[in-house]
Amino acid sequence: MRRQPDGYPRSVSESERQAARLRLIRLLQGAYSGELAASHAYIGHARSVRDEAERSRIRAIENEELVHRACVGKMLASLDAAPSAARERIMLRVGQTIGLLCRVGGWFIPMYGAGRLEAHNVKEYEDAADDAVRCGRDDLVEELLVMAEVEWEHEHYFREKVLSHALGRIVPVWKAIPPKEAIRRSHAARHGAPMSLARREGGLVAELGGQPPHLTDDIVRDTVERSRR
Ligand SMILES: [Fe+2]
Ligand SMILES: [Fe+2]
Repeated sequence: MRRQPDGYPRSVSESERQAARLRLIRLLQGAYSGELAASHAYIGHARSVRDEAERSRIRAIENEELVHRACVGKMLASLDAAPSAARERIMLRVGQTIGLLCRVGGWFIPMYGAGRLEAHNVKEYEDAADDAVRCGRDDLVEELLVMAEVEWEHEHYFREKVLSHALGRIVPVWKAIPPKEAIRRSHAARHGAPMSLARREGGLVAELGGQPPHLTDDIVRDTVERSRR
């Protein structure tokens, strides 16, 4: 798709742009609260496993969800939008409940449930990247694709765990998602070549210190502390 100098896709009308912006805000509000729920669920999940390597990987995933939350919060603010208070309340309860159930759900069920949810998260950030392009916010695309890739890693980890268990060979496992490289390849196919580096450097990556958001430790600490208050 060819772009105008301001980055808007040439073929998108103003009303389509506005609709895409509203869809993007709704998606990001869902993702913002979903990340809160996920982080609380993973607190319980990490406590429920005995294996030290599994526990530390699940804690790292929990932190990555909180980094996503911080990044999505900034995106919402940049769209002159805010998280949904109602959704925040509901998803906090959902996350806490799942976290508690992990303590009594054994090993397999929490691994299976986490993998299914992570597969959904990949698609959610890919859809958000699509709407970011449609509403002329190319500066958000790189972070959204990075988050989709991190969610892909999460799904991959839990899928491998499920398949390593005897039950994983009996219970139907959720549909496999495309390879990680397909996230950028399919986005580029839908919207044309990826944005230039100069455009990317002007976005939230630059604001977060020039690193992809999942590598910024200060943001992790800050968000973890605020979310646990
Ligand atoms: Fe996440
Ligand atoms: Fe995740």
